[in-house]
Amino acid sequence: MIPDKVPQEDVFHGSEDLKKTAHVCSFDKYKELYLKSVESPDEFWEDITKDFYWKTKHTGPFLDYNFDVTKGKIYIKCMEGASTNICYNLLDHNVHEKKLGEKVAFYWEGNEPGDELIVTYRELLQKVCQFANVLKSQGVKKGDRVSIYMPMVVELVVAMLACVRIGAVHSIVFAGFSAESLCERIMDSQCSLLITADGFYRGDKLINLKLLSDEALQKCRDKGFPVNKCIMLKHLSKGDDTSPGSQSPPAKRTCPGLQVNNKQQHQRFDDVPWNPEVDLCWLTLVGGASDKCEPEWCQSEDPLFILYTSGSTGKPKGVLHTVSGYMVYAAATFKLVFDYQPDDVYWCTADIGWITGHSYITYGPLANGATSVLFEGLPTYPDVGRMWAVVDKYRVTKFYTAPTAIRMLMKYGSEPVYKYKRDSLKILGTVGEPINPEAWQWYYTVVGERRCPIVDTFWQTETGGHVLTPLPAATPMKPGSATFPFFGVVPAILNESGEELEGPSEGYLVFKQPWPGVMRTVYGNHQRFETIYFQKFPGYYVTGDGCRRDEDGYYWITGRIDDMLNVSGHLLSTAEVESALVEHVSVAEAAVVGRPHPVKGESLYCFVTLTDGVTYNRALEAELKKQVREKIGAIATPDFIQNAPGLPKTRSGKIMRRVLRKIACDEHELGDISTLADSSVVEQLFQNRHCAAV
Ligand code: WT7
Repeated sequence: MIPDKVPQEDVFHGSEDLKKTAHVCSFDKYKELYLKSVESPDEFWEDITKDFYWKTKHTGPFLDYNFDVTKGKIYIKCMEGASTNICYNLLDHNVHEKKLGEKVAFYWEGNEPGDELIVTYRELLQKVCQFANVLKSQGVKKGDRVSIYMPMVVELVVAMLACVRIGAVHSIVFAGFSAESLCERIMDSQCSLLITADGFYRGDKLINLKLLSDEALQKCRDKGFPVNKCIMLKHLSKGDDTSPGSQSPPAKRTCPGLQVNNKQQHQRFDDVPWNPEVDLCWLTLVGGASDKCEPEWCQSEDPLFILYTSGSTGKPKGVLHTVSGYMVYAAATFKLVFDYQPDDVYWCTADIGWITGHSYITYGPLANGATSVLFEGLPTYPDVGRMWAVVDKYRVTKFYTAPTAIRMLMKYGSEPVYKYKRDSLKILGTVGEPINPEAWQWYYTVVGERRCPIVDTFWQTETGGHVLTPLPAATPMKPGSATFPFFGVVPAILNESGEELEGPSEGYLVFKQPWPGVMRTVYGNHQRFETIYFQKFPGYYVTGDGCRRDEDGYYWITGRIDDMLNVSGHLLSTAEVESALVEHVSVAEAAVVGRPHPVKGESLYCFVTLTDGVTYNRALEAELKKQVREKIGAIATPDFIQNAPGLPKTRSGKIMRRVLRKIACDEHELGDISTLADSSVVEQLFQNRHCAAV
């Protein structure tokens, strides 16, 4: 399945220098290891698991599973019988056995240049133990779910690993989501405690997290699910005389920018809303906590975390990952895909609130004892050179970002990039959506100066780690292709009837067998897990992505094939946005489609049919945008809303999104519309296309 030969021309190769020290140094070596990983998985993974600490060893086969719904319940078990603790592996093991205590775990770089903090492995271990004791003192036990809604600060990592240490299950909600989304997630996973911060800045925009948290908890209460504990970290506010009690900010944390530039907003933090019956202050709690905490030994298949991702029905899915398989997979992919070396300074720009941050800021890098940059800010703040300023400041060697960020920076040309040296960079990575060859070339030539291979990593919240990806010193790269499977991953391309296609072909991307990092269930709804991923093509895990295999065997992701949109590398379901629109009294019906966008990949184009008697105007449009933002979060803000007195439907009443996509793009070649019930609707929609902003 992996081709014997890959092209040597018209492709890009990693440098000879890289090959000298790389873990996988040639395509032949990759092929050999790949074969071993699928033919003798036990032997292959056994070598990798040796790097970890196991309280007890596993007994059965490395992987035990049923991937075929027609044969019964879907299950995946990895390393049954083993017990371990991931926090112990990430911290204690590195500090005590590997003697990395004084090594920097994170260089925290705040939103304001100049805000910085250094945390070593030893310090991180202490902070995590203290906070784990805090959680215990608040009654959190093994298996309990804890919601985390925090900015990109070191304490976010501390909070997640403290959960892991005591066997609690973290559910991190991206701090850009709305109160409504947070409430929905808290309730779905029945969290007993929320951890948040007062607020943070994204560029010059203040996000008042505590207010949003309060609103979310009020919503939970109103819906009959009271959560009576909320731990708040003071990130922005000074400790002196505010309600959470008297305390000073941690010694090394500085926020000069906030005090100088943002006096007005800063004032607002002198009275963080505070409810003494629910709210608890992080610093006060930690002050009295011991920095020793025995880890809770967990079974391989104990739950590790829940992370919500959009579902095509509109209801977010709680993707559940478990202990051993996820740890081994996140660690192995990090090591091999970024060719991790001990003197690396690695930087992944994602937010920990997404799976990329879980696997490739926290778990993968810490499992390898790596030094990372943890960045709170934005690529464009205070100016569009910020990324490269940070690269130079910390001498970053491996840099991982999203195509949407690359395209955005590309708009400003090469000048802001050339202002910085970037000579420390060795490997570049992308994730989140297909990267267009033009952006790939810019990243390769301008940012990496043709010196750094690009790893275009295809994966999903569900896959836990990279599943299709180049290995930087082994795989000749084709711009825009995620190339070949990672070890243990067996892809196939199916046609509509579920037949496997051979050779060059295009169809549904599926996987034929599990790998250690694959999700285990949808939290609280195993049937939904089976329906979404295993029902369509029995015997296969269905990714929901379309894929093409070229004549050289390279895989090219062609995009989603369900009702999902990929906006800036994040999935949104059309149904979720539609239901947010329909909740507005003036909207009778809504249909949302994706419209290609030069930076975001896709943007939201919404068609709304108004209730009788309501007229469409700018004020309503603004209200609808606000409504979506408040229900879901800023990421879902529609770019276009069009008044649609009628929607194109089939005779059976199904909305023809295919036609709406064409209208959104002003493309008049509609293809076969013989099933359309009323074709005059289409004409009308073309006529009142929203021209102003398009
Ligand atoms: C979807 C998963 C995995 C972390 C970020 C998003 C798309 C992801 C690539 C890539 C083409 C990609 C797919 C996938 N996607 N990486 N390298 N090339 N498409 O996680 O929110 O779970 O989204 O992102 O459509 O299914 P997610």
